[in-house]
Amino acid sequence: MTERPSFPQKLGLFALFLNMNETRYPLTVKIMKLNHYPCVLFLIILSCALIAACDSDNLTDPEQMDVLDKGLSGGETTVFDATSHAFSTPAPNLSADGLAKHLAGDVEFEAVFVTVPAEVNPGLGPVYNNISCINCHARDGRGRAPTSGEKLTSMLFRVSLPNPEGNNTQGPVPVPGFGTQLNNRAIFGVPPEGTVTIDYTEGELTTSDGVKVYLRTPSYRIEGAYQPLPDDVELSPRVAPVVFGLGLLEAIPEATILALADEADQDGDGISGKANFVWDVQENRQNLGRFGWKANQPTLLQQVASAYHDDIGITTSLLPRENSAGQPQHDGRRDDPELSDEILDVVTFYVQTLAVPARRDLDDPMVQRGEQLFDSARCSSCHIPTLRTGTLSDVPAVSNQTIHPYTDLLLHDMGPGLADDRPDFLASGSEWRTPPLWGIGLLKVVNGHTNLLHDGRARGLLEAILWHGGEADQSREAVQQMSASDRDALIAFLESL
Ligand code: HEC
Ligand code: HEC
Repeated sequence: MTERPSFPQKLGLFALFLNMNETRYPLTVKIMKLNHYPCVLFLIILSCALIAACDSDNLTDPEQMDVLDKGLSGGETTVFDATSHAFSTPAPNLSADGLAKHLAGDVEFEAVFVTVPAEVNPGLGPVYNNISCINCHARDGRGRAPTSGEKLTSMLFRVSLPNPEGNNTQGPVPVPGFGTQLNNRAIFGVPPEGTVTIDYTEGELTTSDGVKVYLRTPSYRIEGAYQPLPDDVELSPRVAPVVFGLGLLEAIPEATILALADEADQDGDGISGKANFVWDVQENRQNLGRFGWKANQPTLLQQVASAYHDDIGITTSLLPRENSAGQPQHDGRRDDPELSDEILDVVTFYVQTLAVPARRDLDDPMVQRGEQLFDSARCSSCHIPTLRTGTLSDVPAVSNQTIHPYTDLLLHDMGPGLADDRPDFLASGSEWRTPPLWGIGLLKVVNGHTNLLHDGRARGLLEAILWHGGEADQSREAVQQMSASDRDALIAFLESL
């Protein structure tokens, strides 16, 4: 860290410092939780007194500062919570007005939509995937693929027709009668578009020291389509990703992201990284894509409006026509915005201002060794550890922060094993956006599972890594060649994020 920390940052660092010798941070978890305001006040007063009194050398020693700074994954938006609420806490540096707006957004994020006519939250469907945001992003966390016999709930399938031009700036070609997303549910009296059944084939991979790892490959069957689908339909499975820390990712200057891209791999390291450029409805032009598994959404406003539109069947001023427009399900229904701009605004603000959980076990030697291995296996070429945000207008809480998201927000060719063969704007069928890794060690606590990757096929961190191919092939190979203790250290590091 070269800059001097600001006061709130110093407080955060101090809270982390207090717990460096504990295994995780039990003390801070007890006192920093936002629903304990008197305790937070107490901590602030105590910290001020202690900082003033001891002028601790540890807090000015650059090396110590560096270690401590690594724990603050979301800069001043970091929260010390390793419980099932770890992903659903407001950024602690919000102003009083900001907090009120966030909480208003929280209510709407949980709102359940129903069919017209109704007093509250009408307009569901006619075709949709789920009835509220929270149903897919449970605890603001991640969805998963259904286990056998379960229905699709927190996962959806995008569809399109092959584009003779391949991946291009026009975006996916809609399938007549279905659009670009398969809606597996519909309101009473209306046929759903169809659903997907998933089967897995188990494969096996052996590490150089003889450890067997089982990898499951999914295959998909569209069933119950209300009208025949063309044989060449392209299908892209996507589980709901976590929704915290997103304002910070939106606040990263475009120039920073573009500077990380190396599309022609000019440095010859085998890793390119390509920016997606997608349609920005608000600005009516192409813009850098940042959100979604293929970075196909340029802003959180548009991402949220698309979620209402595509996933719940709710129209907004940004996307005023029903997702079923032109299909028989839409017959005779009104199109006008079903959701107010005010609600769209507070929900956007909500996903912009969810806190990022702090790292744990920073002083564990195994975690520290794992971090070095993360570098030497070149994971950090795509999962960029540290970035600096610029300013995001009207969201000062996420502006000018040093963050540790472990992403470059760029597309990478991950090889045929992970390909969906469905281009999405500039993303080819085998390219995916590097997902942020912050908070990944808390997935089990928050969502009760550790299913990873865009389709949830990996059942844990090691499986996810061993699926890496294409540009990440050398990284995967490095992990396969590691000793068991090195692999454990790498996993321990990921668990600490
Ligand atoms: C049917 C399940 C489902 C529902 C309902 C749903 N989402 Fe999502 N959400 C997803 C999936 C799947 C993705 C990834 C989409 C993609 O990659 O194309 C996603 C992506 C997102 C992202 C981008 C995350 C990132 O890291 O890029 C945000 C923000 C988001 N959703 C917010 C919302 C909001 C707000 C609502 C309610 C209006 C909502 N979602 C409703 C499944 C859902
Ligand atoms: C070439 C860029 C690149 C490199 C190098 C790379 N990754 Fe990834 N990583 C990705 C992309 C892209 C995905 C998403 C793939 C998908 O969902 O199909 C991903 C997914 C992951 C996931 C799952 C995340 C989630 O949210 O589901 C983990 C964990 C992960 N990587 C860890 C690592 C580790 C550890 C290494 C080094 C051994 C590494 N990655 C190297 C690009 C990379």
